[in-house]
Amino acid sequence: MYKSEQLAHNLRLLIDNGTWPAHSKLPSLRQQAQSSGYSLMTVMNAYQELEAQGLIYAKEKSGYFVAEHLSTQVPQTYSVVSLNPKIEINSQVFKYLKSTQHQQIVPLGSAFPDHQLLCPSKLIQIMGQLARNRKNYEQSSNLPPGNFALRQLIAQRYCMQGITTDADDIVITSGCLDALNLSLQAITQPGDYILLQQTIFYGAWQAAERLGLKVITIPEHPQHGFDLEAFEQVIQSYPIKVCWFMLNAHNPIGFTVSDEIKYKIAKLLHQHQIHLIEDDVYEELFYGSKKPLPMKYFDQQNLVLHCSSFSKTLGAGFRVGWVYAGKFSEHIQHLQLMSTISANSLIQNALVEFLSHHHYEKHLRGLRRSLEKHKKQFYLYLKQHLPVGCEIFNYASGYFLWIKLPDHVNSIEIYEDLLEQHIGVTPSPLFNILQSQQHFLRINCSFEWHSDIAHALDQLSQSIQNHLKLRQITHSA
Ligand SMILES: Cc1ncc(COP(=O)(O)O)c(C=O)c1O
Repeated sequence: MYKSEQLAHNLRLLIDNGTWPAHSKLPSLRQQAQSSGYSLMTVMNAYQELEAQGLIYAKEKSGYFVAEHLSTQVPQTYSVVSLNPKIEINSQVFKYLKSTQHQQIVPLGSAFPDHQLLCPSKLIQIMGQLARNRKNYEQSSNLPPGNFALRQLIAQRYCMQGITTDADDIVITSGCLDALNLSLQAITQPGDYILLQQTIFYGAWQAAERLGLKVITIPEHPQHGFDLEAFEQVIQSYPIKVCWFMLNAHNPIGFTVSDEIKYKIAKLLHQHQIHLIEDDVYEELFYGSKKPLPMKYFDQQNLVLHCSSFSKTLGAGFRVGWVYAGKFSEHIQHLQLMSTISANSLIQNALVEFLSHHHYEKHLRGLRRSLEKHKKQFYLYLKQHLPVGCEIFNYASGYFLWIKLPDHVNSIEIYEDLLEQHIGVTPSPLFNILQSQQHFLRINCSFEWHSDIAHALDQLSQSIQNHLKLRQITHSA
């Protein structure tokens, strides 16, 4: 760890434990350097680090102050539990995904990290070697539940987090979305009630629409990310068959729910015997020193189906993911053999080589460092350039920033405006179907800083300004 990271870490602890409450003034750079023994440059880097994470903010000529606790502050959704009887999101998602595929587009709307950061050369080298041997294309040993050695390696990663797992618990799938879809299909029948977070990856809405499920949603909690009270209220009032939650590095908002809340969720799931499909596809992209625990860790009764993949760390094109399926393993394999069959054999074999020689850990360390650095650059630039009334939600993980637009500025209009200029962003109606929640945007910040990026962010600010002006004119007319 660099000295500035160590200092930032120590200061973050003081903020987290309330020693420095919101809006209290931090020691000046000089005072901090004197009291900590670090150089002025190290202190400045540490403060900038905390600023980029949204934990402190600078006031001109006054110094640094503790922000409202951003890592635990989530956009207020002003909504109670809602029943969403008819979901029609698939065509909207299709249109959106098509629109972002254009080669010339600045891909700030992409769901994947910059491909320059993925697919490390060691993996390319391994694939090159294996590709020359016919035996590596052989399918039978890679059919459901998937390559045994790969399942063992994935099981070991769970064990490293204190989750007892063996290869038989794991089913290899064609990416995380396949794992999520198969899990939902294995547990539900058309017409069943499922419970989602109100703002959630659009894959959950699509799956519910496709399987004809009734969706109840709970709002995000403004401090904790997850609203335990609303959760308890729903599971007491509705016959929920399964929940689909994302509690680590939430997409699109970014928050990670505390272990204490995860423990309480697990307890309630046990009491009511409800299954949980856990989407943990960003589990490796944390910036702190410890990987956040999944809900699977707190699950004593095998109610949680934990889903993840290598898409966000090595490349979405590999299409290799998995589900910790436990007792659902057989059922999921049946469904798999009727649909996606299996993940690619050559890639499964290559991943075994790559993971067994610790190349993955080394790659992950570099990837996390780059994502943190890039997101910080985006954050600082946006903070300076976005019009007044915008709010940026920034968390210490992943590569997204979630931006609240000024009241009444519609994110779809901004998205369409930018698309004409070949700039992609993701508007909130893809994640949240409530009419009242259309004024958020997700920005992918994984890219190396570049003049094209600065230009795209300037265009974003300009577009918001234009919409604000238009509103003022229409209101005053
Ligand atoms: C939250 C979330 N879950 C699942 C997926 C699907 O991942 P995969 O490409 O491994 O299917 C994505 C992809 O964008 C995602 O953002």
